[in-house]
This record gives sequence, C-alpha cells and structure tokens, in this order.
Amino acid sequence: MKGRLLAALPATVPSLPALNIEAFRADAFALREQLAAFLQLSAAELERRLPCSTEELAALHPGAFDPEQAGNFYEETVGDGHLLELAAWHLGSRDYIADTLRLQQHVARGQLLDFGGGIGTHALAAAALPAVERVWFVDLNPHNRAFMTWRAERLGLAEKISTCRDLDIAGLPEHFDTIICLDVLEHVPDPAAQLEFFADRLQPDGTALLNWYFFKGFQGEYPFHFDDTALVEAFFRTLQRRFLEVFHPWLITARTYRPMAAA
Ligand SMILES: C[S@@+](CC[C@H](N)C(=O)[O-])C[C@H]1O[C@@H](n2cnc3c(N)ncnc32)[C@H](O)[C@@H]1O
Repeated sequence: MKGRLLAALPATVPSLPALNIEAFRADAFALREQLAAFLQLSAAELERRLPCSTEELAALHPGAFDPEQAGNFYEETVGDGHLLELAAWHLGSRDYIADTLRLQQHVARGQLLDFGGGIGTHALAAAALPAVERVWFVDLNPHNRAFMTWRAERLGLAEKISTCRDLDIAGLPEHFDTIICLDVLEHVPDPAAQLEFFADRLQPDGTALLNWYFFKGFQGEYPFHFDDTALVEAFFRTLQRRFLEVFHPWLITARTYRPMAAA
C-alpha cells in the first residue's frame, strides 16, 4: 500500500521555503534587502527613509475626507510610501507581527484570502504552509501588489499566489477556507459591508482571522483610520450577527471567527 502511494507521488515534490516565525524574527523575510532592491535604494538611503515613513504617509492625507475617497488615497495618493511605512512597522514591531504569523499558522489552510495584504508578509508566510492550497492576495495599491509579486518570485512562491486589485475579479473562489484581514478594516469606508462579504464567502467550517483599530492615534498619527461612532457600531453589530468567535490562546488583539448563517 505504502509503495503504491509513493508511486503515485510526482518524482519531485517542490519544496516550500521555511518562512516560519524564526525566519521572520531574523530578518522579516529579507525585507530590508528586498525593499532596497525593489525601490532601487542604497541600504543607507533605505535606513534614512524608514524612520520618517509614518509621518510622510500621514502628511499625504488631506485630513477629514469623504469616505468615498479612501480607495483613491490607497490606490493613487500613497504611491510607494505605504511600502516604506509598512516595512518600518513590520521591522520595528517584529514580535507583534511574529505573533500574528504564529496565529495564522494555526488557522491557515485551503483557499486563503489575504485582504489588504500590504507588503505581503502574511501572504508569503501562508503560501509557504503545506496546508494552504492557494493564496489570494488582494490590495488596492499597485506598488504593494508589485512588491509582493516580486518577493514571491524570489522566494519561489509565485505559483501559489494570485494577486488582485479587488474582490470583483472573475475566478476568485466562491468560498474561502481562510480569510486573513489584519490591520485593514479601519481603512475601508464600510467595514460592516466588508464583514458581510467575508461571512458570505467563508466556508461554514472556515476561519476568519481579523483585527481592527478604529482610532486615529493619541497624537493623530493615523488620520487615515476611520473612527466614526456610527460606522464602528455598525461594524460590531454585523460582527455579532454574522460571526461566532473561536477562542485561541495565541494573541489577544487578533480574533478568529467562524461564519454564522445570515438571520
Ligand atoms: C495597514 S495596511 C495592512 C497591511 C497588512 N495586512 C499587514 O498587516 O501588514 C492596510 C492595507 O490595506 C490596503 N487597502 C486599503 N483599502 C483597501 C481596499 N478597499 N481594498 C483592498 N485593499 C485595501 C492598503 O493598500 C494597505 O496595503
């Protein structure tokens, strides 16, 4: 029996890179080197730009804006500024990001959507997991998509990742086994509607891994985060109506959920 199973396997099983917690803690999956090469910056220039990236991103924001303009801000205004800001954050908060990767490792499987995937840390780590069949990386920002694709090619993971601007494209799975949406819901103009989409498109036994930060920061450093009371209340009402929380012991700021059928 064992012999027959072995004979059925392809001669060479492509090996996946070990993008595990230790690898992330070591160098954030070679983030510094990759970002410098991608942006064609010297190592010194990258180090000069990383620390001011959050203020530079905030400075691009026009202040209070029509929620309908949020998409334009991420797709056009921020340019490659978000790459630097997200890289500075992932490098500077490596323990926290490593904790989110540990949690992802426990829930990720099958068809996985990473919505608002940014610089690709979670998408790449997910694609390197044998339990994950395919990663669907969605991000409005063309620079983020290009950088994630570029990284995936260098890490030998490009075959396992599909990259999309939005969720309207043909060919997206009808249902996902895993939905990852980390540090994104406070950026979208209607986070309740986003949850409805997630609930509709998650397998009944699938897992959504979510967090949010509906706060502009104690010093107003995140002017692009939505914090409107009615918007946040609608978000929590939808969360409680469409999802059941599944306890996990790994990280208290990120939650895992199963979908509940719409009432
Ligand atoms: C704070 S970053 C989080 C990135 C990543 N999930 C992480 O944890 O590092 C938010 C990301 O959401 C993307 N984004 C914002 N609005 C979006 C939308 N409506 N659809 C898809 N992506 C969006 C931005 O381009 C950005 O990459």
